[in-house]
Amino acid sequence: MSTPTKAQGAQKMAELHLDGKVVRLPMLHGSEQEGAFDISDLRKETGYITLDNGYGNTGSCKSAITFIDGEKGILRYRGYPIEELAVKSTFLETSWLLIHGELPTRSELDGFVNDVTQHTMLNESFSRFMDALPRDAHPMPICAATVGALATFYQQPESEQSIRDSVIRLIAKMPTIAAAAYKHALGQPFMYPRNDLDYSSNLLHMMFATPCEEYKVDPVMAKVVDQLFILHADHEQNCSTSTVRMVGSSMANLFASISAGISALWGKLHGGANQKVVEMLELIEANGGDPDAYLARAKNPDDPARLMGFGHRVYKNFDPRASFLKECCEQVLSRLHANDKLLEIARRLEEVTLKDKYFIERKLYPNVDFYSGVIYRALGIPVDMFTVMFAIGRMPGWIAQWLEMRQDPAFKICRPRQVYTGATKRSYREMAKR
Ligand code: SDX
Repeated sequence: MSTPTKAQGAQKMAELHLDGKVVRLPMLHGSEQEGAFDISDLRKETGYITLDNGYGNTGSCKSAITFIDGEKGILRYRGYPIEELAVKSTFLETSWLLIHGELPTRSELDGFVNDVTQHTMLNESFSRFMDALPRDAHPMPICAATVGALATFYQQPESEQSIRDSVIRLIAKMPTIAAAAYKHALGQPFMYPRNDLDYSSNLLHMMFATPCEEYKVDPVMAKVVDQLFILHADHEQNCSTSTVRMVGSSMANLFASISAGISALWGKLHGGANQKVVEMLELIEANGGDPDAYLARAKNPDDPARLMGFGHRVYKNFDPRASFLKECCEQVLSRLHANDKLLEIARRLEEVTLKDKYFIERKLYPNVDFYSGVIYRALGIPVDMFTVMFAIGRMPGWIAQWLEMRQDPAFKICRPRQVYTGATKRSYREMAKR
């Protein structure tokens, strides 16, 4: 079976020679010249499907939102490098860019910020809703459940306007939900959002203020949180985003789709890794601080331990977010005059792995989760909340991808095939004959 290519008019075609038949597969290239074979008619033409464990070679859609070049360590939102957006933009401006495709005008941004500010509060019933949950519940399932439950309060039939309202409500309420989940764990009263604070300052206020004492937000720290949200805002068709698209493709509403995405992000191989990175660094510190013993475990195929915060399905070079976050880490710790031993261990781990054959051969470099956890820790964010911070940042990306999927003229419900490997037909056997 070979795939020589032939042009068929303007359309370039790959030829699949199979069982004496020649099947032509249309070829297409994205705006950054990534190539793909369109196999939409493959089963109809050949009776065969493709099999691609983990979808490492399979494009689920065409998208104009985020571009990643894993070999060159490039990440751009709507064409803008994240390094520029993290320095020059704000999280809400970047959210508008991801959702609408262009940077907002002054009046568009002011209107968007005002809409978000006016929708940060949660219905009071949510305090009773969360009260019913165990105090020691992880905040991620609390956030997934609460976001899903938003659909019980906003039951309008789906329309362009109701979707616009849901977009604002999700971006506006996610920090309030996150902070409430944190306060629930502390047994402290929820703090209301304040309209005089910017988006990231409001989150820190709702997390760390109490009715007895105001929390003085450090504007530099709030800016770091805003930058962290920008860096996490989208990442093309990762596990949680593909989940949001999959759920939304059944015509489930936006709250249900985002709730599913939050659950997918929680996994330790995905967004849950930032929490596991710090737990891994703490384990290394508890064992004397020398990373070699843990590295040996991570390289041992018989040991389930992995070097958390390392490796990526797409980045086979550095993750540009990790590079930015490493610098951020140094700045935050020097501003806080904090000398975090975990940062020392993290630096040592990165240094050793860059020279280690196992990691070099497998192109395993620090990813977005490697340094973010150390920064969150320095900011006083509790480790259980690290993945919740990731979810707040990823919200506009999930929304943008869901909207793009729903607005795609070629939109259809996602329904993959399988290669069946189970028992062939057999007859029921009475109990006595088993
Ligand atoms: C995120 O997709 C996205 O875009 C995700 C994300 C986003 O913004 O949405 O970027 C966010 O999820 C970042 C990744 C966070 N996860 C971790 O840090 C967990 C640790 N990393 C790994 O579990 C792993 O690297 C993955 C899950 C990230 C990627 O896994 P792949 O692409 O399926 O790679 P693989 O498991 O097939 O690994 C290939 C080889 C294997 O060894 P061999 O079988 O070839 O001998 O590399 C090894 C793996 O054992 N390997 C690791 C490793 N990661 C891969 N070995 C030790 N430590 C690691 N971290």
